[in-house]
Amino acid sequence: MYILAPSLLAADFNILGQQILETQKAGAKYLHIDVMDGVFVPSISFGMPLMKSIRGTSEQFFDVHLMITEPERYLKEFVECGADGITFHLEATGCAEKAIEEIHALGVEAGISIKPGTPVEAVYPYLDRVEMVLIMSVEPGFGGQPFMPEAYQRIRQLRDYIDERRLPVKIEVDGGIGKKNVREVIDAGADICVAGSAVFKKRSISVNISRFMKAFKEKEEKNRCSDGKDRQK
Ligand code: DX5
Ligand code: ZN
Repeated sequence: MYILAPSLLAADFNILGQQILETQKAGAKYLHIDVMDGVFVPSISFGMPLMKSIRGTSEQFFDVHLMITEPERYLKEFVECGADGITFHLEATGCAEKAIEEIHALGVEAGISIKPGTPVEAVYPYLDRVEMVLIMSVEPGFGGQPFMPEAYQRIRQLRDYIDERRLPVKIEVDGGIGKKNVREVIDAGADICVAGSAVFKKRSISVNISRFMKAFKEKEEKNRCSDGKDRQK
């Protein structure tokens, strides 16, 4: 099953609650919450108070993407504010192992993310202990950037590595995903697609999300057919 994770960064904060509900109604199982500290990335977004106030609005999985230095400082607070999963950047911490342990001890899923310039191999040592790897397909920091095509090869490399070892790790891809490239992103091996601009801008949220859902459905159908063929062999 493929999952859409709308990124709040692109929402209209004046009517945030309403827009979140629209994404939920349209079938987005996750809500992607980008936390930026102005140090690890150049901009500052939002944090705990916002999360706390929207937690009651949505039943979605709160997929928190921490773009902050030394993320271990705030793990507990983000869980208390309603995170269901916390993804931190490998580049932002001196001790990824400890951060993963702490996230699990708090009772939520752990994800590890890498920027476009970090080799995919850097996450291999953690794949037996995280639920998710987040591959950035833009430089983290801003919404609305174009998808970097180099990401396809990186997603494929990680997909192959995970599949060969039958590891139960999901691949999330974040940045520049829209109706034009979502098929290629899931074909490359993504399980979860983050999308900000393509969900909240231009058309209505429900129309925008329906495009993603259509692509997911078609791919799931295709996967079912090829599974069937494999079994017949
Ligand atoms: C970038 C963020 C992304 C971003 C995605 O640092 O991590 O989640 O908001 O936005 P779009 O889909 O507009 O590229
Ligand atoms: Zn993000």
